[in-house]
Amino acid sequence: MRIAILTGGGDCPGLNNVIRAVVFQAIKKYGDEVFGFLYGWKGPINNLIKPLTLNDVEGLFNQGGTIIKSSRTNPYKVENGPQKVIDTLKANKIDALIAVGGEDTCGVANKLCSDFKAPIICVPKTIDNDLNATDQTFGFDTSISIVCDALDRLHTTAKSHDRVLVLEVMGRHAGWIATMGGIAGAADYILIPEEDFDIDKVAEAIKARKKEAGYAILVVAEGAKFAKEEILKDQEKDAFGHVKLGGIGERLAKAIEVKTGFETRSTNLGHIQRGGSPTAYDRVLGTRYGLTAVDLVHEKKFGRMVSLQGTKITDVDIKDAVGTLRTIDKELYEQTRVFFGNEINKIKPKIKA
Ligand code: F6P
Repeated sequence: MRIAILTGGGDCPGLNNVIRAVVFQAIKKYGDEVFGFLYGWKGPINNLIKPLTLNDVEGLFNQGGTIIKSSRTNPYKVENGPQKVIDTLKANKIDALIAVGGEDTCGVANKLCSDFKAPIICVPKTIDNDLNATDQTFGFDTSISIVCDALDRLHTTAKSHDRVLVLEVMGRHAGWIATMGGIAGAADYILIPEEDFDIDKVAEAIKARKKEAGYAILVVAEGAKFAKEEILKDQEKDAFGHVKLGGIGERLAKAIEVKTGFETRSTNLGHIQRGGSPTAYDRVLGTRYGLTAVDLVHEKKFGRMVSLQGTKITDVDIKDAVGTLRTIDKELYEQTRVFFGNEINKIKPKIKA
């Protein structure tokens, strides 16, 4: 068979592990030929294609990013885009396409499958971990490890200066990175897009924490709303209609400083949390997804996405993964409130006899 692969959307650690696994599995197990479309969906629209050999994936196991590049191109926003994708697959005699991406990339794959019966298998990717129908996307584990490392560092400097420090992390619509990174790095308050917050309550919690420890650390997801409004970097939207978020950390730090009188600073972790070498967990998850994707191609299970269910890799209908996002597990988030200063406080003040 002639199998092609593309990587779409924001890059993330583990993409090269998927590519490496697809190339190994396709060539060594099935004797296939493998090709990479460059720059996500832009590749098949513009016929940007190159062969991928075992030599091309040599030493890729610990490399972040994607050797076949990525972009946020949406074929459904390009004139005749979907038909161009189909024509390019035919012109290159591609029997199957493996599309690696999040909600946007898989959403396009889902439409191409239903509009053209396109032979596509999806692999779930995003540091945000907000894709439905899988327990985890690869890239997420690496990003929360980076958040954890950043928090470890912020703790020591905050403590030295008796400061309040705010860390802004990614997560447009889901607070997975903020919550899991915040738990790992002992945040004293976590703010997420799914939960509106009351700045006065946050300030009270920070005051209580400052009294206990002398300093405080907050983690805020970029999509958390200040006074119910998203904080935008600019008004520009990408091809999937996403605005550029950014600035909630700074806004929050200023408000806390005003409300508490404590010196408060903010740090935006930005693309650092998407770069560099994948963790061992993401290397293994990406590899397992890639191996299974090629098996699905040979079973002709088109229209399916590989998925982690518990500890097993299985497959689901692509349409079950797209349409709505997987937001935070409320129970998990609520559990973290015990760390939020005075929010859960059963300690009764001692009454003098
Ligand atoms: O891919 C998801 C994501 O990392 C989001 O968390 C973030 O909002 C966005 O990408 C940033 O996109 P870009 O790299 O295009 O600025």
